[in-house]
Amino acid sequence: MTTQIDSLEEYKKAYQESVDNPEDFWKKQGETFVWKKPFDQTLQWNFEEPNVKWYINGKLNITENCLDRHIEKRGDQTAILWEPNDPSAPIQKYSYRELLSAVNKCANGLKERGIKKGDRVVFYMPMVPELAIGVLACARIGAIHSVVFAGFSAQALADRVDDAQAKMIICSDYNHRGSKNIPVKEVVDDAMDKSCNSVETVLVHKNTHGEINWSSEVDFWWHELIDHQSSKCEAEEMDSEDILFILYTSGSTGKPKGVVHTCGGYMVYTCYSFRNVFQYKEGDVYWCTADIGWITGHSYIVYGPLLAGATTMMFEGVPTYPDAGRFWEVCEKHKVNQFYTAPTAIRALMAKGDQWPAKYDLSSIKVLGSVGEPINEEAWNWYNDHIGKGNAPIVDTWWQTETGGILITPLPGITDTKPTYASYPMPGVQPVLVDADGNIKEENDVEGLLCIKFPWPSIIRTTYGDHERCKNVYFSTFKGMYFTGDGARRDKEGRLRVIGRVDDVINVSGHRMGTAEVENAINEHPSVVESAVVGYPHDIKGQGIYAYVISQNKELDDTFRKEILAMVTKEIGPIAKPDKIQFVSGLPKTRSGKIMRRILRKIASKDGNNLGDISTLLNPDVVSEILNGALV
Ligand code: WTA
Repeated sequence: MTTQIDSLEEYKKAYQESVDNPEDFWKKQGETFVWKKPFDQTLQWNFEEPNVKWYINGKLNITENCLDRHIEKRGDQTAILWEPNDPSAPIQKYSYRELLSAVNKCANGLKERGIKKGDRVVFYMPMVPELAIGVLACARIGAIHSVVFAGFSAQALADRVDDAQAKMIICSDYNHRGSKNIPVKEVVDDAMDKSCNSVETVLVHKNTHGEINWSSEVDFWWHELIDHQSSKCEAEEMDSEDILFILYTSGSTGKPKGVVHTCGGYMVYTCYSFRNVFQYKEGDVYWCTADIGWITGHSYIVYGPLLAGATTMMFEGVPTYPDAGRFWEVCEKHKVNQFYTAPTAIRALMAKGDQWPAKYDLSSIKVLGSVGEPINEEAWNWYNDHIGKGNAPIVDTWWQTETGGILITPLPGITDTKPTYASYPMPGVQPVLVDADGNIKEENDVEGLLCIKFPWPSIIRTTYGDHERCKNVYFSTFKGMYFTGDGARRDKEGRLRVIGRVDDVINVSGHRMGTAEVENAINEHPSVVESAVVGYPHDIKGQGIYAYVISQNKELDDTFRKEILAMVTKEIGPIAKPDKIQFVSGLPKTRSGKIMRRILRKIASKDGNNLGDISTLLNPDVVSEILNGALV
């Protein structure tokens, strides 16, 4: 297992070593894993193409490191602890031994349906243990998993299935979420009707007793295919640089792109970062509340914790069901030691009042984590005072789908913490702040664009099926550097604070959304001529979605508004629904016809009196009209 830092001195030493001699540093970490054939070189890279390879010629299977290797020492220890949506329903526990056997059975079932190394399998499932089991079963046989968050629409699911040319979709019949029972299979049926021609099998896990439609050619029940399989399955030999998974994420332009992560580097970095960021100790119970549909769930519910031999909890429900004390009730019930959630959840629960956490014994909590968006000072303080009671350091972890693992964070009990600051780079991570021309700002007490100038093991390798896109989006803005799309500030002492996106990506409740994607969805409405979408500060969600819409021959009333919302729900999913829709007669444009989002952003953020010079616009008159009608 990778090393664990336990003092400030060690952190400084590890950091220095990782910068002075990155290859030696990561070679040592890499050697702590089980390899089928050892790697013969640690790193080859250039950021021009880009072409980054870690642990060259190493052969491995990540599931042998997540499962088999733990059997001897902790075979009976709980690997996955599952807490159901309904607090009175039974919990489920899988020991490492049981999990290995469940994964192997599933892997054999996938093979029976013709899935082999390199095939893509899409998951569209709620947070049930079978999701983690299925993901690991893919990894076991070298199939590439692509998990799609089960809140996305049929269209969004179909887009992802088509892009990945997936051979199989694994779903549930229904999803329990709070008091709702959401028809999951129905969405898959819908997606299959739209396209998904590459799909040969839809594997359905029975989660409830609800009725579903059945197509005898493609649909298979999980229990019928998998339960009788052998619990032994040879782990496929994978190259370090073979693809482990694809995860779709939004960018500033076009459709979501498939971020590709590979086996070797991702394994080393998620284990190393998990152990250090959460200071996990043998026997601890760790809980990350994310959904496995996002990168946080991949790296810090499934892979990182299992690689480290941890007990990782999976929660099926929502923070406010049956009431706003649910998170804290679950922390008490399972004596959670590390708790990792998103600022939007903290803000929503903070708004419900201090009495909720006060009802529960939270003394087991040693570390609190935050991820997904900047955490504001008020939420940070509430988290610290009411959940950690001042005794549990907060790790404000900054990272991205593309980075695979946490890159900037305090280490709890080791480095200091400061509200709203993700603070310090992990060993092996070399962040820089640059100006618009790419000049590195060396000094402290500055703001700049956040770039990383050296590869770390879990860096994005490509965007699936379109390497040029990967190059253009991340490696072309500033030569020789990975550009994050975020702006950041460095304080006088050198701590980093990530302020937010500087591109046309908005972050709504910790979910990444491309403004272009939402605009495309709105524009699908036949009466919409054009639209522009921007983010604005929102008390609970971090950012809300503000849409400016030009329409034709249509009464600008609530019915139309609802039709637009329905269109976005259909194209993307309810998470992308605009919070505000303003009907306008025109949009401010430059003389070359580009929408001036800067102006729209300011108006939506109540900063409309401070627009600067607008005289160079093609249509300056429209600005005052928009200002007058602004929904602020
Ligand atoms: C934002 C989530 C500030 C950031 C793991 C980044 C953060 C985007 C933080 C990636 C943080 C994530 N402080 N901002 N601690 N963590 N972000 O791909 O803008 O869903 O670029 O990955 O979320 O979102 P993604």
